[in-house]
Amino acid sequence: MVTELMKGVYWVGVVDWAIRKFHGQELSTHRGSSYNAYLITDEKTVLVDTVWGPFQDQLIENIREVVDPAKIDIVVANHAEVDHSGGLPAVMRQAPNATVVVSQRGKESVEGHFHQPWDFKAVKTGDKINIGKNDLVFVEAPMLHWPDSMFTYLTGKNILMPNDAFGQHYATAFLFNDQVNQEELYAEALKYYANILTPFSGLVLKKIEEVLSLNLAVDMIAPSHGIIWRKDPLQIVKKYQQWAAQEPENSAVILYDTMWDGTRLMAEAIGQGLAAKGVPYKAFHMAVSDRNDVITEVVKAKALIVGSPTFNQGVLPTITPILEDLKGLKFQNKIGAAFGSYGWSGEAVKIIEEHLNRCKIQPVAEGTRAKWQPKSDDLARCKELGQKVAQAINA
Ligand code: FEO
Repeated sequence: MVTELMKGVYWVGVVDWAIRKFHGQELSTHRGSSYNAYLITDEKTVLVDTVWGPFQDQLIENIREVVDPAKIDIVVANHAEVDHSGGLPAVMRQAPNATVVVSQRGKESVEGHFHQPWDFKAVKTGDKINIGKNDLVFVEAPMLHWPDSMFTYLTGKNILMPNDAFGQHYATAFLFNDQVNQEELYAEALKYYANILTPFSGLVLKKIEEVLSLNLAVDMIAPSHGIIWRKDPLQIVKKYQQWAAQEPENSAVILYDTMWDGTRLMAEAIGQGLAAKGVPYKAFHMAVSDRNDVITEVVKAKALIVGSPTFNQGVLPTITPILEDLKGLKFQNKIGAAFGSYGWSGEAVKIIEEHLNRCKIQPVAEGTRAKWQPKSDDLARCKELGQKVAQAINA
């Protein structure tokens, strides 16, 4: 349903209640998502971002409710990933003479996706385009989260359209932050940050400072997924500053996989050690856990304790994806430890420790191994490991 956000500014996006996996099969979206596109009718008609390709017809219908799509003069493509640019070909078929405004890097990525001879205008930070009463002002935001990412700000209405930044994969009946369940909203905003933006936390902090230093009045932050922040819109900016600082809580996450429960028993004993020292923890059996939900817990915790039995002289293949995430997401300020049962060669613990080191998650105690099924003294050593990690957390 098309919604007028402010006079002459319309949400013309699409709510996708059904999507449960994003980026192919890489990211879970238990609460669906939305693809927000914004139509501005000033002396010029401007569309900021489009929608994912399968929803392009709905986008065109939405635009048509407000204005003939052929009247679009400018399409801003803040970012080329196809959940936002997928509707561009349909829009450009309706308005073939429209100018496609992109960042410098966006020209390359949008052209690379669509191979079309559209009229591109590449802009950089501080560039303005007058559209009548108001201006569009652009702020390049490389690595938030692609090199081509860009924010668009509309003067006069004081709306910041930062594309993926400040978004959430969250389908809702209502458009604005003050109309939805706050716990769900922040759970999804954190999941989005943790899984997509964590590696760029340093850049997030710098970009926020840069935007704040421009002293732009911000009455609304309208990202390209999820709700629009209209009530106290800077609340999500403050949250991003907090998340980007990567100052974890005094808590732990135990990640493990297990074949015949030996490593599971070890995980539970480690948990007892943590709890005995008053450190809260969560344990996840990775073969049956949603990786993206686990990452959302990992981002909050100070310590990561990773376990696997030895399998083919390595770790269980089901533990490998989360190890890859730990590498790619570049968490900071975390400590770790490793554990696992084995029958013959027993390399898994060493492999995990080496991996944690490569991820700059320094193991704080020597890893614990148990041969065959753990005996009571093995479990006592696991409990001790939990206690040592707890002491390091509380140090
Ligand atoms: Fe980077 Fe929502 O796409």
